[in-house]
Amino acid sequence: MSEEQIRKELEKDKKSVKDLKELNDLKVKYLGKKGLISLLNQEIRNVPNEEKKEFGMMVNSLRSEFNDFYDKKKEVFEEELLNKKLEGERIDISLSSTKVEKGAPSILEKLIEEVEEVFLSMGYDVVDGPEIEEDKYNFEMLNIPKGHPARDAQDTFYVEGEEKLLRSQTSPVQVRVMLEGKGEKPIRVICPGKTYRRDDDDASHSHQFTQIEGLLVDKDISLSDLKGTMEVLFRKLYGEDTEVRFRPSYYPFTEPSVEIDISCVNCGGKGCNVCKKTGFVTVVGAGMVHPDVLRMSGYDPNEWSGFAFGFGAERLAMIKYDINDIRVFYNTDLREVKEFDREVL
Ligand code: DAH
Repeated sequence: MSEEQIRKELEKDKKSVKDLKELNDLKVKYLGKKGLISLLNQEIRNVPNEEKKEFGMMVNSLRSEFNDFYDKKKEVFEEELLNKKLEGERIDISLSSTKVEKGAPSILEKLIEEVEEVFLSMGYDVVDGPEIEEDKYNFEMLNIPKGHPARDAQDTFYVEGEEKLLRSQTSPVQVRVMLEGKGEKPIRVICPGKTYRRDDDDASHSHQFTQIEGLLVDKDISLSDLKGTMEVLFRKLYGEDTEVRFRPSYYPFTEPSVEIDISCVNCGGKGCNVCKKTGFVTVVGAGMVHPDVLRMSGYDPNEWSGFAFGFGAERLAMIKYDINDIRVFYNTDLREVKEFDREVL
């Protein structure tokens, strides 16, 4: 085919090519081994010498014309293909989706975390201990020997005879931490954890509940250190105006022992139903660690002194979130639990 015929043919093909496949077929048709332009190029053999240069240039320009056309068209076809693909994959964001329920920490968890933060900021460690505990740690080494009336008050779940039990308080962790300290190291720990008692469940009792235990052992510690510590905690939890007061009490493992009250969060201390018109509510049992307890765990009471405290985490949360039934914390009905989640989100 002559140059002119090829050009004509090419113009026709340019107009009719419909897709990438056809375009590639054209490439073979023109530039393939037996392609029209390639064949034309072979004609150079029959061209007189003085015209070879011009002939060569003509073939080259034909070839680059085809290549230009090919490249541009290829881009167009590829873009069309991509658009088609995207069109097919389009996501309709106006469609309503399936609602995914989101979880949130329970208010009890939130409260425990808040308490932990306060104590961490005062240099305490957060520790834990086993829920299946030995009588030795839960009672004996806390100055509650067999037959002691204090054992009745903590009506206990025993497992495996008389020696293993579900801990009725977090206080045994005090003993474990002191034994680890070997009578040498000062101690600052809190221990939040589950405790168990043979109580019938009602609005204010639960056979399983959460205590937060605290223990500080060092040199020259007094009750006023405990008072200051409790003020830091309760003002952080319930506001700067919260007042903290001590009343004498009795625990076998502390001497002296105190009950700690805070001004009623509901009425600010004026007197209401929540505080039974007293202006205060009791929230903590505490005291100075009994010398015998220190001694039994390897700390010399002539050298060391300390304070300890324990409180119910649910009780603190009930005060904070104005809840009057402890069973709320162990309720698994999401419709009820959700109401409290919203308050802390
Ligand atoms: N373990 C006590 C209870 O369950 C609470 C308690 C009172 C803990 C005084 C203490 C403390 O550490 O010093 O009722």
